[in-house]
Amino acid sequence: MINISIFDTKPHDRTFLKDALAQLVKEKTVSPDMELHFIKDHANEETISFAKDSDVVCFFVNDIINAPLIDKLVKYGVKLIAMRCAGFNNVDLEYLGDKIPIVRVPEYSPHAVAEHALALLMTINRKTHRAYNRTREINFSLDGFLGMDLYGKTCGVIGTGKIGATFIKLMLGLGMKVIAYDVYENEELKKLENFSYVDLDSLFPLSDVISLHCPLLPTTRYIINSSTINRMKTGVILINTSRGSLIHTRDLVQALINGKVGAAGLDVYEEEAAYFFEDRSSTENVVKDEVLARLLGMSNVLMTSHQSFFTKEALFNISKTTINNIHLFFDTGELPNKV
Ligand code: NAI
Repeated sequence: MINISIFDTKPHDRTFLKDALAQLVKEKTVSPDMELHFIKDHANEETISFAKDSDVVCFFVNDIINAPLIDKLVKYGVKLIAMRCAGFNNVDLEYLGDKIPIVRVPEYSPHAVAEHALALLMTINRKTHRAYNRTREINFSLDGFLGMDLYGKTCGVIGTGKIGATFIKLMLGLGMKVIAYDVYENEELKKLENFSYVDLDSLFPLSDVISLHCPLLPTTRYIINSSTINRMKTGVILINTSRGSLIHTRDLVQALINGKVGAAGLDVYEEEAAYFFEDRSSTENVVKDEVLARLLGMSNVLMTSHQSFFTKEALFNISKTTINNIHLFFDTGELPNKV
């Protein structure tokens, strides 16, 4: 029996993982000798003891896998770390070395994330999130709701991988001109009408909308900061569905206050691990993070709780790839999605 401890699980994770395992067993793609142990909490130095008799530990996007946790996993004899997400910026890969192999889910639905970025853009531009509340209060005033046509405007995209490329096609569908920056250029995208690659310095002053789709790396941390913001068009709309630390959030707050940035749609936040994915609405849970509180109080900011990935298709694909990653490692020793 392969014992798998799965951290930071919500009811939907349990449902999708159990369904994916049942389907793969039915198809005879994997053998039925896997036991899934669901743990509600994040992985940390206390909860990691749940991994004691496990062959595999499965972590999610905000689990911080640092040296002390890795030491414990080695001590417990864990044979495989299976991330059920694409990003691995919270894993200390240098310390992990080849102590335990690690796999991830590199792709599950670029459409889920790109479509959410589109939703953030459309909402923050036309203020439909505020209109929803206003009309329910029988207030039919349009004050403060003036938006702009996206048609004919320029969208700047940073990162043209799977999600960035999908988002670019959505923007072109709106009739926008798209300019993009990536360290590697995608030859297929270059063939599209109204699309071109530019260098990063040119992207900032030319874009009416900027959307981030690059990973968080030492080279991309705080790619959006006071200096790059100063080079943007006044009133630019900023969308971030990638990772919070791509943006220096305090600098963004200043730019939202002084009007340099017109609006922001944020699905991710630098310090999200302390808040996101949980109901913290009870009165004893006053938001202590001053930057987060400031953002939440701004009418030109729309925040969502890292939900871009949250579609049925994406959750099923994440679950299926995770189970298959584990099966392949134990059955054949293969690690097709090795980090
Ligand atoms: P990908 O690996 O297909 O594409 C990333 C692109 O960024 C690549 O083309 C790469 O060359 C480019 N890149 C790397 N360094 C760069 C730099 N310095 N400047 C500009 N571009 C650079 O990844 P994918 O699947 O498109 O995902 C993108 C990001 O989206 C992930 O790294 C992750 O942070 C985020 N994400 C967020 C989710 C959410 O629910 N909010 C869900 C899934 C991914």
